Amino acid sequence: MKIGVINDTHNWYQDEPSGTRKCSYAVQWLDEVLNQPEMQNLDQLLFLGDIVHDYNDSSDGTTYFAQIKNKANEYYPNDKICWCLGNHDFFGDMTVEQVVSALGMPSNYYYRDVGYIRFIILDAQYNTDDTHRQNTTYSFGHIPESELNWLEQTLASTEYNAIIGVHQLLAETSMSDNKYFSSNPSNARIDNRVEVRQIIEKYKDKVLYVLQGHSHFDRASIINGVLYMQFGSLVDTWSPEKKRTRILTV
Ligand SMILES: [Fe+2]
Repeated sequence: MKIGVINDTHNWYQDEPSGTRKCSYAVQWLDEVLNQPEMQNLDQLLFLGDIVHDYNDSSDGTTYFAQIKNKANEYYPNDKICWCLGNHDFFGDMTVEQVVSALGMPSNYYYRDVGYIRFIILDAQYNTDDTHRQNTTYSFGHIPESELNWLEQTLASTEYNAIIGVHQLLAETSMSDNKYFSSNPSNARIDNRVEVRQIIEKYKDKVLYVLQGHSHFDRASIINGVLYMQFGSLVDTWSPEKKRTRILTV
């Protein structure tokens, strides 16, 4: 099985005012990534959150989500794409239901069995009181009690191997040399990650790896027998000179 990973497209009408993230190139660069020979004939394509960068209202936001979704669907139908939600996907006035609908997701968190692999996509875009975020500028992740229970059941109820996708970090990767999080590493992480990891560790013989976005750089670590990988963002690591794709084969 061949799995492609793309994260942090940060689609927006302009580059970030600080000049760091090239948001206005998102659709063009996505097209270039998906055109690469190694990105053809994927069994699944994972988008690990921050599909968009910013927006005002639902009509504005729907446009930016649709631009990325429509470009991805030129290459793969939605049943071959696992969309995962990121913090920036709620940097505007859309509800979680509106964002789920805009991307054609089955739900905000869900699983999909493909071959003998269970893809489990988490949603960490919750407030600490377990309500869903909307119109926020928060960066750190939080996973509510109900989703933790669902994760446990979803891992327990399969004999397949599992691949887990989530936007913010469950790992403890050092952020000291990170462009966005060196001054506040807790903004890169999920606040109740230890609790989430304890569930995953109970099923570590099934879990192939945990895939994360958000940090915008490539790192990997093993914690208590579980492999955590995080990936460089499209918005920072793609350019005509730096053609970097991320493919996993199982
Ligand atoms: Fe991001």
